[in-house]
Amino acid sequence: MPDDRPYERAGAEPAADAAPPAALGPDPARAILANILLVDDEPKNLRALTQMLEPLGQNIVSVPSGADALHRLLHDEFAIVLVDAQMPDMDGYELAAQIRQRGRTRGLPIIFISAFSTGDKDISRAYALGAVDYVFKPVDPVVLRAKVSVFVDLHKKTEAVRRHERALRQIEERQALIIRSLPIALYTADLNGGFDGPRFLSEGIAAAVGFKPSEFMEDPTLWPARIHPADRERVLSHVAAIDTAGSMSIEYRWHCADGSEKVFLDQAVLVRDEAGQPREILGTCLDITYRRQLEQQLAHSQKMEAIGQLTGGIAHDFNNMLSVIIWNLDVVTRSLKGTGKLHERSQMALNGALNCAELIRQLLAFARHQPRQPKVIQISELVPRMAKMLSPVLGERIKVGVSLVEGIWPVFADPAQIESILLNLAINARDAMPDGGTLIIECANIRHDSPDLDPAPGEYVTLSVTDTGVGMPQEVIDRAFEPFFTTKESGKGSGLGLSMVYGFAKQSAGHVTIESKVGLGTTVRIYLPRAEAAHADAEQDWDAEPDLVETGRAILVVEDDDDVRAVTVARLQDLGYAVFEAEGASRAIEILRSPATIDLLFTDVVMPGGMSGLELAQHACEMRPGVKVLYASGYASSFHAARHVNGELLQKPYGDRDLRAALSRVLGSVGGSDSSAPRAASGIV
Ligand SMILES: Nc1ncnc2c1ncn2[C@@H]1O[C@H](COP(=O)(O)OP(=O)(O)OP(=O)(O)O)[C@@H](O)[C@H]1O
Ligand SMILES: [Mg+2]
Repeated sequence: MPDDRPYERAGAEPAADAAPPAALGPDPARAILANILLVDDEPKNLRALTQMLEPLGQNIVSVPSGADALHRLLHDEFAIVLVDAQMPDMDGYELAAQIRQRGRTRGLPIIFISAFSTGDKDISRAYALGAVDYVFKPVDPVVLRAKVSVFVDLHKKTEAVRRHERALRQIEERQALIIRSLPIALYTADLNGGFDGPRFLSEGIAAAVGFKPSEFMEDPTLWPARIHPADRERVLSHVAAIDTAGSMSIEYRWHCADGSEKVFLDQAVLVRDEAGQPREILGTCLDITYRRQLEQQLAHSQKMEAIGQLTGGIAHDFNNMLSVIIWNLDVVTRSLKGTGKLHERSQMALNGALNCAELIRQLLAFARHQPRQPKVIQISELVPRMAKMLSPVLGERIKVGVSLVEGIWPVFADPAQIESILLNLAINARDAMPDGGTLIIECANIRHDSPDLDPAPGEYVTLSVTDTGVGMPQEVIDRAFEPFFTTKESGKGSGLGLSMVYGFAKQSAGHVTIESKVGLGTTVRIYLPRAEAAHADAEQDWDAEPDLVETGRAILVVEDDDDVRAVTVARLQDLGYAVFEAEGASRAIEILRSPATIDLLFTDVVMPGGMSGLELAQHACEMRPGVKVLYASGYASSFHAARHVNGELLQKPYGDRDLRAALSRVLGSVGGSDSSAPRAASGIV
């Protein structure tokens, strides 16, 4: 209601009395600016009130009606509202009632200002509507400012607390988010003379082990009970010693809810109370299973590499010696035919030497020095054939199954080697199922993506052999690929079967894994890289049978081992060839420069003296374009290289038949001899 009397009865007070009291320290509330709402239909009154309250230094909002006031209250937060009791349309009482009804403004302090007293009834009504004061005009500016400033201060303090709480909540939420996203579990635990379960455990633990933090807190035995039995005593003694040690850092295996076992790195520090007494431990638990797996894998492959190099070196020397022994025994045995006992003994010695050669072959296979004759093959065609062949070996009590899917990719491998490893795996499976069981051979295509774990990322065909046998404990799995590791009784196993499988897989740029559970069975899975079109050149017939040998040709034999060279020369002469011999590349080149006819260079691949057999062959082909080449070596790596120089390959140690076959392949395919040079007489140059 309009009122002619000005609000102000006295002159304006010095602003200083309204200024907020000097704070003793930094007061966060001081920085907050409060809103004060003035509602009066008379602009003059609004101006007067504004002038009165301006010294408070807050934000003053004036509106001419109750409707406008409600509108402003919807959008902004106010410390207090000063309402003219008598206004047209919506008076102060109705406005107060509406303010009280709205949840957002229910607690807003309201001061009624009235031009005249309408009696106690109105004052009571105003207080009933939540008024904090009822002021009559003329208003004393000092008193009004003092009253308003109380509510402004209260509002600012409340707001400061609210902001503080909000900031705290944000910090807590951020911390919780960080803790949740850490690949680590944080915990605190009270120390009551030992571990009594965690007091706090971050949620990260659930993803790692499958148990919720509350489960650990409710059952203090859950954590110790699931520590690997072999680690438990050590772990608990570290925990017990933390009050004296002050900290701990331990690694242990833990049995997770899903039955898997994980490795954790548990690091904790001791916190003492003011009196210096141990109060609690603060710790972190990090899942290092994957890291340990990688380390183990690296250590394992380094160990296998070292054993491979050692084995390969020894096997190579044995190869040379065996070549001499087998050849001489072969000659002697044949010449002793018809002499009864003597022939028998000689035959036994030859058989023994051949068995040794087989052992060497396996060792070379493990050391990845086994010469291969790979070609692009469809494993899915080879496996069913092989499975049929296995049945009689495995006996009636073992059922053999083959699991194949359509569209198995081709692989680049030596089929004879695949047959040999399948046989080895089947025999292992048979030995693991003395009471019978099932053996499944399975082929599948897989894409391997992990750059850390073997094999290298790429596309592979897997060949798995699964049995339902006795299974292998972890310590056997860890050593199963080592040559000569066997759990079989003496004479039953040489421990070379899986070593060969390992060597074959690695040599084929693949990988092999063992999954086994004691009492349940074993799966050995071989990964062979998918064949590329570039390997198609290998699809020639490597299995050609020995043909008629063309004699009368001239062969240059290059071999650094005197015994091996002597045997080879004698053999070739026996077969009717003209033979030239050289102990190394330089002598061989001299002979190649001579006018003598040379149809074939028969050279060892690995030779001392700087030039390998491969380089020699290249020189020979340049000097005598028509010359053929036959390599002999026990090292597979040599044979890889040899394929690119267009030569034939002969694996050491070789028998007579192997030699004839190789000669037939290399010379039988020749149209004629090197006619650019005169034919030499048989003999040694
Ligand atoms: N399918 C399997 N089930 C259970 N244990 C196995 C299986 N395959 C291999 N093993 C274990 O791994 C060891 C090594 O196997 P590997 O084939 O290398 O040698 P071996 O079978 O003992 O002898 P060899 O194969 O030379 O005759 C075995 O002695 C056996 O303890
Ligand atoms: Mg075996």
